[in-house]
Amino acid sequence: MNYGLKDKVVVISGGTSGIGLATARLAVADGARVFLIGRSEENGLSALGILDADPEMVKFIQADVSTIDGCQSAAEAVNKAAGRVDILVNSAGVYREQWRELVTEDEYQEIMDINVKGTLFLCQVMLPLMTEHGSTIINIASDAGLEGNYGCPVYCASKGAVVALTRALALDYAPRIRVNCVCPGDVATPLVEKQLAAGDYTLEEMAEPYPIGRIGQPEEIAHVICSLASPFNSYMTGSIVPVDGGLTAK
Ligand SMILES: NC(=O)c1ccc[n+]([C@@H]2O[C@H](COP(=O)([O-])OP(=O)(O)OC[C@H]3O[C@@H](n4cnc5c(N)ncnc54)[C@H](OP(=O)(O)O)[C@@H]3O)[C@@H](O)[C@H]2O)c1
Repeated sequence: MNYGLKDKVVVISGGTSGIGLATARLAVADGARVFLIGRSEENGLSALGILDADPEMVKFIQADVSTIDGCQSAAEAVNKAAGRVDILVNSAGVYREQWRELVTEDEYQEIMDINVKGTLFLCQVMLPLMTEHGSTIINIASDAGLEGNYGCPVYCASKGAVVALTRALALDYAPRIRVNCVCPGDVATPLVEKQLAAGDYTLEEMAEPYPIGRIGQPEEIAHVICSLASPFNSYMTGSIVPVDGGLTAK
């Protein structure tokens, strides 16, 4: 696949797992220089092993995007190594189920800090490094940011905020920087593995409402992310793109 990403500097929060890691794989194959951000060093080193790429082309940055300090340290590391950012993918995120009447302040804070604050402040610190006309940001929200889901009100609120943030940033930074958002349905990643292990439903039950008849694969989301990031895709900004096997078409 030629996305036109050769020699582009791509920063992926949550690049050590799931959708972010699949995006890294496609970007590396296209000749991009990729930085993976995550908290766990073990997962970071494992991701580097899976990608098995030239160490000059893929680097792991250990940082927690839920804090402004964490975002800043990640930006400093990218600036030192590459001096610029062409593409920022905000894929770091957590999913938690909790009924509305049981949500605690700590649970609210964790989800909002990673999913919303992390997305906003990583954009803020990376934007000064996005000096090239045609630089682009792709935020990862969810079908849960487009419509309600049962038993996860804070997650829904956090992803709705990412959708709104995307539109606001697209207006603020046009025409220099394009900002778009991908809204996956359920995707077979460690996030969903944990969800299934903690929930009282099966993979088959999870897949049942999807018109395509199954949940997604990380590569199917990564392909759309790389297509949005591609310089060939020069007229698209402020767009919210469902990639959900038809779930939200109903
Ligand atoms: N999988 C799905 O069904 C699905 C559906 C809709 C939307 N999404 C969204 O897609 C995105 C990626 O999900 P996924 O399924 O790929 O999840 P995943 O496999 O659990 O990966 C999450 C990634 O985010 C990183 N991360 C989490 N908190 C972080 C923090 N505070 N600072 C830096 N990195 C952090 C994780 O690394 P560390 O834990 O090491 O930090 C990991 O690399 C998320 O925003 C998720 O909400 C997923």
